[in-house]
Amino acid sequence: MELLHFALVVAVAACTVKVSHQGPNQRRLIKELLTSYNRLERPVLNDSHTLTVSLGLSLMQIIDVDEKNQVLTTNIWLQLCWDDNYLQWNPEEYPGVTNMRFPENLIWKPDILLYNSADERFDATFHTNILVNSTGSCNYIPPGIFKSTCNIDVRWFPFDVQRCELKFGSWTHGAWSLDLKMVEPDITSYTPNGEWDLVEVTGKKNNHVYECCPEPYPDITFTLVMRRRTLYYGLNLLIPCVLISTMALLVFLLPADSGEKISLGITVLLSLTVFMLLVAEIMPPTSDSVPLIAQYFATTLVIVGVSVIATVLVLQFHHHDPNGSKMPKWTRVFLLNWCAWFLRMKRPGEDRVHSACHNKAQRSSLSSMELNASTPASQATNSKILYAGEEAKLLPKAQGPSVGGVEPELAKILEEVHYIAKRFHDQDENESVCNEWKFAAAVIDRLCLMAFSIVIILCTIGILMSAPNFAEAISKDF
Ligand SMILES: *[C@@H]1O[C@H](CO)[C@@H](O)[C@H](O)[C@H]1NC(C)=O
Ligand SMILES: *[C@@H]1O[C@H](CO)[C@@H](O)[C@H](O)[C@H]1NC(C)=O
Repeated sequence: MELLHFALVVAVAACTVKVSHQGPNQRRLIKELLTSYNRLERPVLNDSHTLTVSLGLSLMQIIDVDEKNQVLTTNIWLQLCWDDNYLQWNPEEYPGVTNMRFPENLIWKPDILLYNSADERFDATFHTNILVNSTGSCNYIPPGIFKSTCNIDVRWFPFDVQRCELKFGSWTHGAWSLDLKMVEPDITSYTPNGEWDLVEVTGKKNNHVYECCPEPYPDITFTLVMRRRTLYYGLNLLIPCVLISTMALLVFLLPADSGEKISLGITVLLSLTVFMLLVAEIMPPTSDSVPLIAQYFATTLVIVGVSVIATVLVLQFHHHDPNGSKMPKWTRVFLLNWCAWFLRMKRPGEDRVHSACHNKAQRSSLSSMELNASTPASQATNSKILYAGEEAKLLPKAQGPSVGGVEPELAKILEEVHYIAKRFHDQDENESVCNEWKFAAAVIDRLCLMAFSIVIILCTIGILMSAPNFAEAISKDF
């Protein structure tokens, strides 16, 4: 108990000694400076003089860029310097007192505000002390999380560069009573942002004359130029979209008989829609400018939609009713001759028929050779059966005279053979009509594959590369 009491006494004594060493001077100075001080007075000697305030800022961090609400959130330390003629003293009269710190509500300070503030309290600064030295020079550095309105143009999203302005100025003073002087913005303690690359921060002093009065109102506008880093959006939006649009090409490679063509097309369409929703969530709901990525998605969506329509056409050709209408002449000429020739497609069996005929000609009898010559090559998809039918017709002619009396059984058999031949013939014809439609479907499929490949490549390159800083974004981010 004794010891504690002793310690307390010593501590109090030490404090008193310390205060007495510097205290009286400071106390005297504060008393002297503030007795006649009125914080409403503009601290100039002559009322017609202009007080100049230097204004600068240190950008600490870009916290958020809200495209949807068009708000930029930054961490900034403002720097305000001015001379207060009533806060000067002679340091020799007050030894040890080189500077003083005044709470900002005790002395005059300029009413500098962020004009384009979007903060709930409007002034978002933290009111710190003001540092004053013996020449009356006041140094006020209020830090703050500033929310400012910024016109974010998402036209080139995600390859965009944004320019956001921070306009500072006195709310009530004109240039005649309070002038502003710009200090170059400082970004030495800037913390890099994951989404945005800071390109530059510039400042400019403007004088604005309002209609009310001839006095100009000065402001200092700092402009933050920042470039969006594209890697995130490239990986999460662009590459999937490019992949999905190439998926749309697979629809044309899938055989029509698999029955999956339409479902593949619709699936691709749906997955694109999901990605479009993601993009729409990020973008501000504005119709001023359509973002590049939305344009790309919309184009891809249209392409995939058209590919689904084309697939329906292909399937309609492929599963065409053989007893239905025959292929119109111009369709046949266009698809089966020109397009097939252009795409270097051969009809299925065309090669096989030719080679089969060739082999048969070599090894079978003269009559079969004649028959083959008489059959049109294009129709003879199954020449063997045709051959059998023709032979059945030939048989009685060759054997008729030698037999003499017509046997009824033979006539009956002949009739049956004729009937079978006719059936085969009809079946053949149907099959050849079917094959023609199927071949036309295959030609359309191939034609669409080529056309859509070209369109997708052109659209991807054309739309994405139209962004002004596409090359820069690719070179820096990827
Ligand atoms: C104030 O300044 C104006 C012009 O600068 C001058 O005419 C006037 O005499 C000054 N007044 C005083 C009290 O110094
Ligand atoms: C007071 O501060 C100003 C600006 O900060 C500086 O130019 C001046 O030299 C300082 N005066 C003294 C006595 O430290």
